[in-house]
Amino acid sequence: MTRDEQKKQAAEAALDHIDAGAVVGVGTGSTANFFIDALARIKHRIEGTVASSEASAARLKGHGIPVFDLNAVDELPVYVDGADESNHYLQLIKGGGGALTREKIVAAASRKFVCVADDSKLVDVLGKFPLPIEVIPMARSYVARELVKLGGRPVLRDKFVTDNGNVILDVHGLTILDAGTLEADINNLAGVVTNGLFARRPADVLLLGTANGVRTLT
Ligand code: 5RP
Repeated sequence: MTRDEQKKQAAEAALDHIDAGAVVGVGTGSTANFFIDALARIKHRIEGTVASSEASAARLKGHGIPVFDLNAVDELPVYVDGADESNHYLQLIKGGGGALTREKIVAAASRKFVCVADDSKLVDVLGKFPLPIEVIPMARSYVARELVKLGGRPVLRDKFVTDNGNVILDVHGLTILDAGTLEADINNLAGVVTNGLFARRPADVLLLGTANGVRTLT
């Protein structure tokens, strides 16, 4: 079974977490795209969605699924999104697609976060995947120097601007043993918009596509 097939089966399993009449939070990336395509099949049963990126909003609208501004809705019952890494506590690294800030906002505004991924994303220790950090452009060099002090090797993501008009530093070489503390420490640096650690608000459910079907971790 290919990675894409694993992503697709995990994404389709997330439909079981969607209640009738819900406004659904929708993430970004290739696994989230499989979820959007699956959601299209039950679009008549939901009220609409809130998207975590312009790309996902465009794909949802392409399927004729309503997309609402987050400010126009109340707490969301569920958010479905992929991840770059998850540990066994369902703490995540996200932001490979650069949508981490809006993803973190929509996750924060949701009662349940269902993470969907292929089984290569489950790791014992976070950090092999470079940690994405969204930074206000004028703070890029300052924040990079501070990240070196934290033991990382920040690399500016080439020719990339986020939906919010900022840049991304991808931080290599971190072994993340205390994800909650590191998440807070990096977010405290002046000029950081947010970082791709989802440890303080981890996923509630992880649906992993595997060669033997979907594995559920809670
Ligand atoms: C985008 C993300 C994605 O969820 C993450 O990069 C995983 O992507 P994919 O589903 O394509 O493997 O955080 O900002």
